[in-house]
Amino acid sequence: MLKQRKSIVGLDIGSSSIKAVELTRDKYDFVITGYSQIEVHNEAARQEAIAELLRAARFRSKRVATAVSGKNVVFRYISMPEMPEDKLVQAVRLDADKYIPFAVEDVEIDAQKLALVQDGNNKNEMKVLLVAAKKSVVADHSRMLVELGLQPVAVGVDGFALGNAWELGDMVNPGIQDPGRTVALVDIGATKASINILRDNVSYFAREVPMGGQDLTNAIARRLGIEPAQAETMKRDPGAEVAVVQEAVAQVLEDLGNEINLSFDFFENQFDGEVQEVFLTGGTALLPFLEESFERIFEKRTKTWNPIEGLKVKADNVDVEALNQLAPQLAVAIGLAAAS
Ligand SMILES: Nc1ncnc2c1ncn2[C@@H]1O[C@H](COP(=O)(O)OP(=O)(O)OP(=O)(O)O)[C@@H](O)[C@H]1O
Ligand SMILES: [Mg+2]
Repeated sequence: MLKQRKSIVGLDIGSSSIKAVELTRDKYDFVITGYSQIEVHNEAARQEAIAELLRAARFRSKRVATAVSGKNVVFRYISMPEMPEDKLVQAVRLDADKYIPFAVEDVEIDAQKLALVQDGNNKNEMKVLLVAAKKSVVADHSRMLVELGLQPVAVGVDGFALGNAWELGDMVNPGIQDPGRTVALVDIGATKASINILRDNVSYFAREVPMGGQDLTNAIARRLGIEPAQAETMKRDPGAEVAVVQEAVAQVLEDLGNEINLSFDFFENQFDGEVQEVFLTGGTALLPFLEESFERIFEKRTKTWNPIEGLKVKADNVDVEALNQLAPQLAVAIGLAAAS
């Protein structure tokens, strides 16, 4: 019986916070069998922080799924003729020098099929997301994980992990979504916002916007003439100062919201459909007034999304209170685990 259970840790190494969620499949259920989170802002301290996190988490599995990001990873949204998915990466690789700013031999290339659409001549055309990561970056990343005693089984990207978390939610909460519905998942971290637009669980568009919670903190620090660390504390727990905080971050939120809105416009023009609902995750989604600010900018129903809804939790190894409270921040970690 026990042998049938397959566990995997989704390890989301964010720029400000490392999140790890262990997901175990038990017949038809998905169970969170471990969870831990640690804040680290300094890249040099990351490996030690992950070691500490692993000691605290007491995961049963060494298998991890992670993601790469940053300036050494590029995304390109391209069109390809329809072809079998197993031929796609090879075909994209042949053409890759047209799209990426690195030498093809220096990068690992992955390609994800997005939607199938008809081109002007009624021929099927595949929309494809090309991801190119410097080989040295992927190798360093894997080496670090192996040094930590882990077994890396997959390296993905945040945007697609979000889509996988959504699909998992669909599986464990059957009937909750209307067929044909188009949703935008938006994960707002410290330094970036990852967007993934899905229709019937198929990804049509994915993009990253280089803005996030750190910009809000900096805006508070500037406006009030205080240190960033103090501004960070105030942002997370403004108490009676909520109006002051809201006012200080208003312009940054407006800029970020408008930038995200451009992606919705792009999707709507390209695919002749409408984003009907927006679901927010990431640490910045813990901001209580984010929903209403963004709903006003997007003019679409906008909600904070809880990616652990419908999952079981093994309470003897998980801090259930922290898990529930920080759930929106765990969407990428859960999606990484769910995909593998
Ligand atoms: N209670 C809170 N209210 C508002 N913002 C918060 C709260 N808790 C955390 N944040 C913010 O969330 C951000 C961290 O979120 P998250 O863990 O999703 O980011 P990350 O994955 O480390 O960053 P990135 O994805 O950009 O690399 C920080 O900017 C932090 O200030
Ligand atoms: Mg993140």
